[in-house]
Amino acid sequence: MKIVVIGNAGQLSYELVRILGEDTICLGPEDTDITKLDVLSETLAQLAPDVIINAAAYTAVDKAEEDQALCHAINAAAVENLAKYCKQAGAFLVHVSTDYVFNGHKGSPYLPNDPIEPQGVYGKTKADGEKALLDILPEASCLIRTAWVYSAHGNNFVKTMLKLMADKPQLTVIDDQIGTPTWAKGLADACVSAAQNKTVGVYHWTDEGVASWYDFALAIQELGLEKGFLDSAIPVLPIPSSQYPTPAKRPHYSVLDKTSAREAFATCNPTHWRKQLSAMMDELKAAQ
Ligand SMILES: NC(=O)c1ccc[n+]([C@@H]2O[C@H](COP(=O)([O-])OP(=O)(O)OC[C@H]3O[C@@H](n4cnc5c(N)ncnc54)[C@H](OP(=O)(O)O)[C@@H]3O)[C@@H](O)[C@H]2O)c1
Repeated sequence: MKIVVIGNAGQLSYELVRILGEDTICLGPEDTDITKLDVLSETLAQLAPDVIINAAAYTAVDKAEEDQALCHAINAAAVENLAKYCKQAGAFLVHVSTDYVFNGHKGSPYLPNDPIEPQGVYGKTKADGEKALLDILPEASCLIRTAWVYSAHGNNFVKTMLKLMADKPQLTVIDDQIGTPTWAKGLADACVSAAQNKTVGVYHWTDEGVASWYDFALAIQELGLEKGFLDSAIPVLPIPSSQYPTPAKRPHYSVLDKTSAREAFATCNPTHWRKQLSAMMDELKAAQ
């Protein structure tokens, strides 16, 4: 089975290559233009993949509020193009979306078929991408929503917190947005399982457990001290989102229900986010 990955420099694409092997073809912006159907189709026709995993996205949630056209091109138009190519070529498409398609009002874990109501441009464009995928390729696609992704590769909350905790005397972190931190490695395992088994449908995949950004930050500090990233602890104070205004509105609660994914991706077991965080920080330490 020939698997081609779209995206070559992101957190997920990095972890996909670790699983699928160094010789995996990953298409970055220099290799093709996913926003143009003719260019993309020509590139993919030459490679003739059986399965495509789309790990490319515009993920700058706040910047997206002022960069709507580019965000839509990458998160929605490109997904439509990929679905159209797969439809005519008979290929299978694994696509990744986000917890930010939900409005955050539910108060209990979101099921894959719960109604979506994104709050910001990033979430809206991801929702448009989902719709295009499910309209064009429902019978040959797997849509995996995930949340709060980090990895040893790339920029993310874990690395930002470690830097701020080393530089600042004190930090305030939001405690009223609840979700699940997710190591890209576990997400990549789920994507590969979906690709290899051509698992059709909409699924949710995150690590196990629930946290606020404040809980996540505390765990990063604790493990950062234990593993020698930090010399001393600083006060980390919980604040409401109202005290940290951002251009994009985010859901207050976006825990995802993984029940159907546990069955569908039977070879992957979601692991508690804290254990995953510890493993990722070991990897980060080893790379220092
Ligand atoms: N990160 C999160 O917290 C999070 C949360 C929920 C869902 N997700 C979803 O999970 C998936 C993987 O996210 P991630 O964390 O791996 O994101 P990421 O680290 O930001 O990687 C996305 C990659 O897509 C690439 N890309 C952008 N435009 C492209 C184009 N035109 N052609 C080819 N590649 C392009 C980016 O390249 P450049 O670096 O050159 O721009 C970047 O390397 C995405 O679908 C995302 O929406 C992420």
